Amino acid sequence: ENKIVILISGQGSNMQAIVHACEREHWPARVAAVVSNRPDAAGLAYAAGHGIATAVVDHTAYSCREDFDAALAARIDQYSPGAIVLAGFMRVLTPAFVQRYAGRLINIHPSLLPAFPGLRTHQRALDAGVKWHGATAHLVTNDLDHGPIVAQAVVPVHDDDTEAMLAERVLEQEHRIYPAAVRALVEGRLQVRGLRVFVRPMQEVSA
Ligand code: GAR
Repeated sequence: ENKIVILISGQGSNMQAIVHACEREHWPARVAAVVSNRPDAAGLAYAAGHGIATAVVDHTAYSCREDFDAALAARIDQYSPGAIVLAGFMRVLTPAFVQRYAGRLINIHPSLLPAFPGLRTHQRALDAGVKWHGATAHLVTNDLDHGPIVAQAVVPVHDDDTEAMLAERVLEQEHRIYPAAVRALVEGRLQVRGLRVFVRPMQEVSA
């Protein structure tokens, strides 16, 4: 059975959306573990409440990124996952880590990449005066926030938007596109050619 490990740092609403979709849609996979780099991540309680294994690999306990990533990888490998899903995981990963999980590592980013990589994307979108903003699910490569794009969703920017209002509108779309992107990954439906990803449709299920 195909296993998914989800990495979080905070509330884990994207993780929750994936757990829901996986159960409701009967994916040929299950969320085997949720791992956080922060002991206080609210998402850990949700996962535990759903009978999902949880673990904390606290980055403050390691003196360098290489050591943290090695500990994280050791924990992840206990589950032999087919997909490693970054869901609000707020640590930059080393090339060795990215290489280890090449093709199996996916991220959700709160902007229409390649616009606004990095942090504080919603405020930066407001400051830039863009009329459309959104979210991007992409495969992770060493080029931070610039891996092959699996899915995107667009939202309008309103004149009276605050950062929080815009973030909420985008997050709602993340919860829609990210489970679909993760499902396509675990079902082996992604075909990657350079930066372009083609998502094959789900197999028709006969009645
Ligand atoms: C989401 O908006 C996600 O796109 C973003 O953090 C939020 C996490 O929310 N991720 C990044 O900014 C990655 N650099 P969640 O914990 O409720 O899923």
